[in-house]
Amino acid sequence: MIKAFIFDLDGVITDTAEFHYLAWKRLADEEHIPFTRADNEQLRGVSRQESLKRLLKGRVISAEQAQAWMTRKNVYYLSHLEQVTPQNRLPGVTEFIEQSRAAGLKLAIGSASRNAKNVLTRLELFDAFDIIGDGYSVVNTKPAPDLFIWVAGGLGIHVLEGVVFEDAEAGVDAALAAGFLTVGMGCANVNHAHLCLNDLSGVQVKDVLAQLSSIRG
Ligand code: BG6
Ligand code: MG
Repeated sequence: MIKAFIFDLDGVITDTAEFHYLAWKRLADEEHIPFTRADNEQLRGVSRQESLKRLLKGRVISAEQAQAWMTRKNVYYLSHLEQVTPQNRLPGVTEFIEQSRAAGLKLAIGSASRNAKNVLTRLELFDAFDIIGDGYSVVNTKPAPDLFIWVAGGLGIHVLEGVVFEDAEAGVDAALAAGFLTVGMGCANVNHAHLCLNDLSGVQVKDVLAQLSSIRG
């Protein structure tokens, strides 16, 4: 029986990928490293540290320099977050959360971002979730299953009772590795999820539950 929905944040509840792109792009330009929007797609769902590694494409920098660059990128990212308001919730999110609560489901966030609580506060959604797993919750980040298992523990559910909503390949991989049912959002990078939705607008919780329940039988 499905008891909880666990949502990734960036790309599922709100779209911050553009802000991550602008922040990494500014750093990359300053350091004369080529970086495109296509490159940015490879950073979806992975940690800040892994993002820097992918941006560097084999270039070697010292640990101190890496730390300084990540801090700088985050300063740029935070400046973009200042414009985030509840208007930045993705289509259908508000209604889907309300429907899920009304259906008696537990709700959680499982995000790789260390800025997740800041973003949720700006979206006025901090109190909408029973537990928030973020970039500080576990050591091994997506695609490792650790974060979603940590969230399930916090919710007091078995992984077989949870559904993870994800927009990134690394996130679906993490959820599948943990044993959850998965809903891929946007369908571009997530066609290995159990079910795929373009967005949450007009989506009925009862339909999602019915489709996923039929998968587990
Ligand atoms: C994820 C994003 O949610 O958080 C990634 O999809 C990002 O693109 C990761 O790299 C880490 O974010 P932050 O805010 O901790 O730098
Ligand atoms: Mg995401």
